[in-house]
Amino acid sequence: APLEQQLKELESFQVIAHRGASGHVPESSMAALELAHGWGVDYLELDVQITSDGELVAFHDDDISRASNGEGGINEHTLAELKALDTGSWFNEAYPDQADEAFEGTQILTLDEVFERFGHDARYYLETKSPQLNPGLEEALVATLEEHDMIESGRVLIQSFEQDSLLKVHALNENVPLIQLVWYYPSDDDNSRLVEWTGVTPGPQEITDEDFQNIADYAAGIGTNFIYEGEQVIDADFIRQANENDLQVHVYTINETDEMERLMEMGVNGLFTNYPDRLLELVD
Ligand code: G3P
Ligand code: CA
Repeated sequence: APLEQQLKELESFQVIAHRGASGHVPESSMAALELAHGWGVDYLELDVQITSDGELVAFHDDDISRASNGEGGINEHTLAELKALDTGSWFNEAYPDQADEAFEGTQILTLDEVFERFGHDARYYLETKSPQLNPGLEEALVATLEEHDMIESGRVLIQSFEQDSLLKVHALNENVPLIQLVWYYPSDDDNSRLVEWTGVTPGPQEITDEDFQNIADYAAGIGTNFIYEGEQVIDADFIRQANENDLQVHVYTINETDEMERLMEMGVNGLFTNYPDRLLELVD
């Protein structure tokens, strides 16, 4: 079955295009997805949020001012208002070396548009972003996934920093594989904050098999950072112990080739990157 095939493939190394090929072209745009898809990545990563009129859009920030010419919260705008924005010109200003006139007037994407374009030819690694700010997100997301037959066909992973959001997704459809996101700090004192935010156990320093099992009860893997302010937060032992407890470990967001190599040597199961071209070269 396709879903079983997807889980089996997760056991090999996964190239995850973070917001598409977002190191090269504006993040979460059709151009970013086209580029990454053309290179043959395993997953297209996108953050999903909900508009004030209930439409699902691919956009990372809660506030639209960095990555568009608008202002305010994304969920305070209707889809029509968001569609009228330019989500590409900011990239030309921020990265003049990579600027391209073609990016001007880039439109925010709905999830429907993404699925209509790539269908079952791609796999999607979708984050329920800021669930507290986006009530109804999980319901709308699962409905859209079902409409496009993305779950049983093994096309999608759902990731979130908030355990509650993942559990909500599973209550709606228990077949979709989940990834628990975490953001680790170098010290366990700081990691106690994680519990409050994500709902999962703190720190890689003290994590036990039981803690991993609690995550493995609902998730197929963990998505984690690697370095915090110059200090490494996970190591090869963390990855090995997660794997022994049936959890894949995917690390975000790794853009430098030497860091990609280091993590691959540590046995990581996949990497989120803005430069999937660099990663694919190492994998080949
Ligand atoms: O989803 C993995 C990684 O993207 C989490 O961080 O802020 O880029 O969504 P963020
Ligand atoms: Ca994300």
